Formats: sequence, C-alpha cells, structure tokens
Amino acid sequence: MREVLQSATDMRSRVTGWMGKRLLAHLSRTGFDLESSWFVPSRVLAPLRRNGLNPVPELARMQAQGPITRLPLPVTVWLVTGYEASKQVLVDSDSFSNDFGNLKELGLFADEAPGGLGFSDPPEHTRLRKVLTPEFTMRRLSRLVPRIEAIVNDQLDLMSMKDGPVDLVEDFAMPVPALTICELLGVPASEREEFQRRSVARFDLGGAATASLSAVSESVVYFRELVRAQRLAPTDGLLGELVRKHGDELADDELAGLADGLLTGGFETTASMISLGTLAMLRSPELFDRVRGDEEAVGGVVDELLRHQSVVQVAFLRIARKDVEVAGTRIRAGDIVACSLSQANRDPSVYAQPDEILPERAAGQHLAFGYGAHRCIGAELAKMELRIAYPALARRFPEMRLAVDPGALSFRKLSIVYGLHSLPIHLGSDTSPAQLDL
Ligand code: HEM
Repeated sequence: MREVLQSATDMRSRVTGWMGKRLLAHLSRTGFDLESSWFVPSRVLAPLRRNGLNPVPELARMQAQGPITRLPLPVTVWLVTGYEASKQVLVDSDSFSNDFGNLKELGLFADEAPGGLGFSDPPEHTRLRKVLTPEFTMRRLSRLVPRIEAIVNDQLDLMSMKDGPVDLVEDFAMPVPALTICELLGVPASEREEFQRRSVARFDLGGAATASLSAVSESVVYFRELVRAQRLAPTDGLLGELVRKHGDELADDELAGLADGLLTGGFETTASMISLGTLAMLRSPELFDRVRGDEEAVGGVVDELLRHQSVVQVAFLRIARKDVEVAGTRIRAGDIVACSLSQANRDPSVYAQPDEILPERAAGQHLAFGYGAHRCIGAELAKMELRIAYPALARRFPEMRLAVDPGALSFRKLSIVYGLHSLPIHLGSDTSPAQLDL
C-alpha cells in the first residue's frame, strides 16, 4: 500500500513539476499575460483578474455558492472568498503554513523557495517580526510625517511644471512610496534616483519576466551594500537602527532580506492604492470634495478605498499542515489555500452594498492588509501615506480630470497586486495649499 501511495505521489510530483516548468517557461516568454492560456481554467485566474475597479463577476458567483471552492487543478487548491472563512484561515498559523518550502516538495517551485517574512512560519517568523515591529509603532512612524509631506509636495510641484497631461502613476503614485521607503530605511539622498529606477523595473510585470528578475537581484545586491555601509556608519533610518540594536544577531543577508521585503511589500501596493484611489475619487467627485474639504473625513475615505480596491488581490498562499475544517469543508494536510481578499472584502454578509464606496461605513475591519500574525506590518505607514497624498492632490489640483476616455485606461490584466499601467490626468489650474486655506 505504501508503495502504491509513494508511486502516486511521485507521479503527482512529476506531473505538477512538469506543469510548473511549462508555466514558468511560458511566463518568461510572455511576461504575465496568461489571459489566453489554454492550460489555466478561468476559475483559477479569476482571483488575479479584475473588471475595472471591481472583482470579476465569477468571484461573486463562487462566493454566492459558498465561502470556499475547490479550483480545477491537478493539485488540491481551495479558493476562499468568504470574509469570515478568510479570517479563519489567515489567523490559524497552527493549521496553515506560509513556508513555500512545502510547495517545493509538490514540484510547484523549482529550486529556491522565496523566503522572507511573508513566507516564513514561527519560530522564524516570530523572530524576524519582533525585530521589525518596534520600527513600525506610531511613535516611530510619526517622525516620517513631515518627510512624507515634503515628498508629496515636491512631486506636486514637479507635476505642476509639466506641460499638458501628466501620468499620475509615473509622476506621483510611484515616487511617493519609493521615496518614503528610502526615508524609512535610510537610503542616502544621492542614491534615491537609482533606487526609484530599480524599484520600478523590479515591479514591471508588464515587461519580460527576465528583466524583472534581473532587477530583483540588482535590488538584493544593493541592499547588501547598504547594510555594509550602515554597519560602518549607522544613520537614523530603520536599517541603522537594526544594525545598532541587532547587528550582532542578524547577518548582512538577513538584514538585506528584511529591507528587500519592505520594498516588495510597501512600494507597488501603496503606488497602486494612490492611483486606483485617485481614479475612484475622480469617478465619484463627492469623495474628491470630501478629502479636499474635510480633514476629519479623510481616514474614513482611505479605509473604505482600501477595502473597495483591495489591491493585494490574494493573500500569500497557505498550505495546510494538518486536516482541518473551514466553513464546513474538509481541508486535508498538504492542500493549498488561497484567500481572495478582494472578494472577501465584498462579502455582502458583512458589508451592505459591498460594491459601493460608502466612506461613512465602519470599513476599518477590512482584510486589505490581511489578518492574524502575517497582517501587513506596514499598514499604518501605508495609511499615513494615503492620508497625506489624497488630500494634498485634491487641494492642489481641484480641477483635475481624466485626460483620456475611461475605456482607454490600461489596467493590469492578471496580477497579485492590481494596478493601472498609467493614469493620464489634466491637472487644471494649480491651486497652492496656501491659497486654499484663505
Ligand atoms: C496600501 C498598501 C499596502 C497593502 C494593501 C498591503 C497589503 C498586505 C497584505 C494583504 C499582506 C499579507 C497578508 C497575508 O497574506 O497574511 C501584507 C504583508 C506585508 N506587508 Fe503590506 N501592504 C501595504 C503596504 C505595505 C508597506 C508600506 C510595507 C512596508 C514598508 C509593507 C510590508 C509588508 C510586509 C513586510 C508584509 C509581510 C508581513 C508578515 O508576513 O509578517 N506593506 N501586506
């Protein structure tokens, strides 16, 4: 019996390994445009696709049938679309592992498991998270507020000097989080332009996968050098602080990995929220007026936009460590579980009129930052950036409007982090904050 099971496992491993390799070969040829791929059923792609600012209707149909659905794949993969069921999976680190090393055994990952905070389990995860947590307290983050305000204002100034329409993605949404991460980590001013270039190249999912992969290794090499420089002369930023407090217990590679994890977690996500949130506000001008005129209302608008957009469409994959029940469905040890955060945040049993943006609702319990031990460590920093960026933009350019027909906007077709490729905007007349205060 054991031999039969072993040979079935070997066969499964060979089939999934072969599929994994085919998929990787296809990805490196075509980038991430799997839209027309014959070998991936549409249900599997649904959590990675969007319909403008909304999840694709297929996800709502799955959700209506039940909070958890098995996807048609040769390995057992469950898609969770219910809000409560997602919370159950995300909070239960005893039953669900984030360690991709487990998936490697199934042949889904060729050699290297990704590693880092998001892909580790306790006690490794607890150890690394403890090192970073003090750097993300409100007290520590508050020192960044004047710096983020200055970054935002500088970008607004640069945009106002341009003739004709601007691209809000390139000119505002990407520089703001990239430069904020420079401030957070302590990247020297002279290296920031290059840092931005590398960050953009790294997340260019529209480009060839090979270009993006080479930017990943460039980025890791850069962080290793930055760590070495910080060891010699630690500055005020997060890396300098980590070197001072934990320099003896953390190797250079570990510190570089943590820094790279913060870039991975904090750049593309926040950039997407800035541009998609702006688009949503341009489509509902009362939201735009609200963030411009009412300081008290900004927090509510930010949280509701985070819920509605859920730019991280799917949480890190979990792999069941043991047999466990989720919303009445039996999950077996070894099964893979994906939580569709974008659909869980539209669960009608939790949010009335889930597709509407209603800033007065208490949206703060949304799952846009995940839930449980792996909940986004940068959530407060991201909200801080959005609470500064949206009103500053709305006050400075109260007449801003789309420079193209909404139908011509180009969104990412298939991605874990959703976003716009570009957002052409006519700024209208420039109103400085000082004039508005009068
Ligand atoms: C709007 C912006 C952001 C969104 C929507 C977002 C969303 C998320 C989500 C959904 C997770 C994973 C939860 C899971 O699978 O359990 C996550 C994890 C993480 N995020 Fe963010 N994030 C944002 C900004 C940031 C920022 C600014 C940083 C840091 C500078 C950051 C750093 C991280 C890290 C390090 C993790 C892994 C945490 C862990 O595994 O313990 N994120 N984020």
